[in-house]
Amino acid sequence: MQTAQRFADKVVVVTGASSGIGAATARRLAREGAKLVLGDVEVGGGERVAAETGARFRRTDVTDEAQVARLVEAAVDAHGRLDVLVNNAGIMGAGTLPDLDADTWHRVIAIDLDSVFYGCRAALPHLRAAGGGAIVNTASISGIGGDYALPAYNAAKAGVVNLTRALAIEHADQGIRVNCVCPGPIDTPMTDVAKAIDAVMDEYAKAIPMARFGTADEVASAIAFLASDDATYVTGHALVVDGGLTACTGQPNLRRALGLG
Ligand code: NAI
Repeated sequence: MQTAQRFADKVVVVTGASSGIGAATARRLAREGAKLVLGDVEVGGGERVAAETGARFRRTDVTDEAQVARLVEAAVDAHGRLDVLVNNAGIMGAGTLPDLDADTWHRVIAIDLDSVFYGCRAALPHLRAAGGGAIVNTASISGIGGDYALPAYNAAKAGVVNLTRALAIEHADQGIRVNCVCPGPIDTPMTDVAKAIDAVMDEYAKAIPMARFGTADEVASAIAFLASDDATYVTGHALVVDGGLTACTGQPNLRRALGLG
């Protein structure tokens, strides 16, 4: 079957592209014809993904506004325009209050939320100059509800969801769409700690209606949809990609408990 070429000649910047969802997104968009510029702090993985996808890679710490701006400029310098920005870099940062220290709090907010502000700030003038474009932010289901032991992550990702909405309405009349994906548990290095503990995976299997983690490719598909012209009337949307996890109220599984088949 022929791959759709929704990104033929589109210039796309992806952050956090060395691993997991960002790497899968780069591969997906490259297959669909995108000209890619990738950023990440992790150089080895980033260069590998760049070699695979014909992309340029630039070491970029997304907590540094100047570095994020240079990543976006590198795309415009190389290809003359910018069409899509995917703000994807992130970390989790577990801990409960009052023991969660301020350094961890600030680090999670900086990598997960400040980075999105920096990326959008750098990209918007170029998207406007191109006559429109799309921004897709990787938020999380952790941005639409609370988790145990992840208060900084919950706060940062909720910020990403609502920043997405604010920018969407602000820039709708410029032809710039701003959306986010809200993945549930996804099989990437970020979830290695959970995957190593059988008891945790048993809990996930009970909680997720599809009874499995998602794949990075499944999130990349959602990002590609939101970034593409298949979504020309979609803006300010938080697209949940979670195997049904947040569709559940959280009540116990009565079907299982009562043996209802
Ligand atoms: P990952 O750990 O495989 O990838 C994250 C990437 O971000 C890595 O390549 C890492 O080097 C990069 N990164 C970290 N700090 C950075 C910094 N300061 N500057 C530039 N790059 C930096 O994890 P995954 O799962 O692919 O995560 C991607 C995004 O998806 C994150 O925003 C994460 O919060 C989000 N997400 C992941 C879920 C999961 O279950 N894996 C669920 C929901 C959201």
